[in-house]
Amino acid sequence: MRLIPWLGTRSRAACSEDNLTLLHDAGPTLDLKEFRLLRDFVNQFCGIYFADDSAYVVERRLRVRLRELGIDDFAEYYRYLQYHPRADAELEAAAEVLTTNETYFFREAYQLRAFTDEILPIVRGRARARGSKRLDVWSAGCSSGEEVYTIAMLVDATGLFEGWDIRVFGNDISRRVLRKARGATYSSASFRAMIPEYERYFIDTDEGKQVHPRIRLMCHFGHLNLMNERRAAIVGRVDVTFCRNVLIYFDDASRRKVLDTIYQRLNRGGYLLLGHSESLLQSSTAFEITQLTTDIVYQRPMPYTDLPPRRG
Ligand SMILES: C[S@@+](CC[C@H](N)C(=O)[O-])C[C@H]1O[C@@H](n2cnc3c(N)ncnc32)[C@H](O)[C@@H]1O
Repeated sequence: MRLIPWLGTRSRAACSEDNLTLLHDAGPTLDLKEFRLLRDFVNQFCGIYFADDSAYVVERRLRVRLRELGIDDFAEYYRYLQYHPRADAELEAAAEVLTTNETYFFREAYQLRAFTDEILPIVRGRARARGSKRLDVWSAGCSSGEEVYTIAMLVDATGLFEGWDIRVFGNDISRRVLRKARGATYSSASFRAMIPEYERYFIDTDEGKQVHPRIRLMCHFGHLNLMNERRAAIVGRVDVTFCRNVLIYFDDASRRKVLDTIYQRLNRGGYLLLGHSESLLQSSTAFEITQLTTDIVYQRPMPYTDLPPRRG
């Protein structure tokens, strides 16, 4: 290992107590000190946090980036991320290999039922009371788009919003998954929880099943790092936000920061749906908890004046 000022002058052998002995495949090795530096740098950028015991995952995934750049060791890679003119682009590329993009259509069906049967009728009623026929839903961390198209198909299938201006917006930090989302064509892995009656929203093509153009028209995608609260203004104001299976990979501080952004983007009374294993109970936020028949969801509080009158 070369002598890098910010790592001190200890050789790899001299700091063997820090070394990670989890390597099974060939390539540059990451010691604990380097791991923590890289981990914190990535965490600042995109919120994702790796505990010490998942250092081998970071090592294995980032080796791809080192190979691509022709860099021999992680110390040099860390320097590249700090000082190279292309550091910003590389940070995105690092986030790209470190994120988990697993997703599929109709994920967590009980929650989708709460959305169609309870949330959508309320949101519709409120909009009609304002004289509006507009529905905005945000899928924050949408990966390759299955969640966005699922939401649009569900809205369509309720029949409650015919003739409305419907916009389902999905964002992700990964440009690779967004390209796939825009292509709207999927193979069998995306259909593992498919509901047969929604087959009508797909067209068979040589590359896979493609989402029907009518549904695609409702859906929009944008590149957005959720940690960038100022750029999140591109989302506009929304009635419902899905942020499922994204914040589980974040540390507490980053999670709170993103929840704050989501809160700001929601209309008053708007809903936040997290993944089934996620809860806001640990994070103090301004959201209210609302118990629906099939799920617990979170709400930006209504202004006092808009609450229904108390009975009795
Ligand atoms: C496991 S997928 C979840 C996809 C979908 N929400 C679902 O539940 O099926 C998590 C997605 O969050 C994205 N992500 C992670 N950190 C992000 C950030 N800081 N900004 C935007 N997207 C992020 C990842 O790229 C990944 O595609």
